[in-house]
Amino acid sequence: MLGLNNIYLYALEHNKSAIRTYEKVGFKKVGVFREMLFSMGKFQYMVTMDILKGEFMNRFPPGHTIGETLEL
Ligand SMILES: CC(C)(COP(=O)(O)OP(=O)(O)OC[C@H]1O[C@@H](n2cnc3c(N)ncnc32)[C@H](O)[C@@H]1OP(=O)(O)O)[C@@H](O)C(=O)NCCC(=O)NCCS
Repeated sequence: MLGLNNIYLYALEHNKSAIRTYEKVGFKKVGVFREMLFSMGKFQYMVTMDILKGEFMNRFPPGHTIGETLEL
């Protein structure tokens, strides 16, 4: 057990399917970095999202599988 309390990520702001996928798992959008990355010929905005241990444990309590919760 790593004892992690906060897991965060970055995604390109225009990557709507990735952001929606992270939201479905329980990540929340906490900020936007403007022109953070130069890619595809221009500076890109990046969204940062995070999830707290308590939020994750509420969403996926011990004994539940992610597939059950998300109805995959
Ligand atoms: C991220 C990834 C795994 C998602 O795969 P997926 O679940 O098959 O993608 P879907 O097309 O089903 O989209 C996931 C969700 O985003 C939504 N979505 C897709 N395009 C969207 C758009 N343009 N605007 C808003 N929502 C959008 C879908 O409706 C779906 O949500 P829902 O289930 O509530 O309807 C896939 O897009 C991928 O492999 N992308 C390339 C790699 C990548 O981008 N990785 C993330 C880097 S940060």
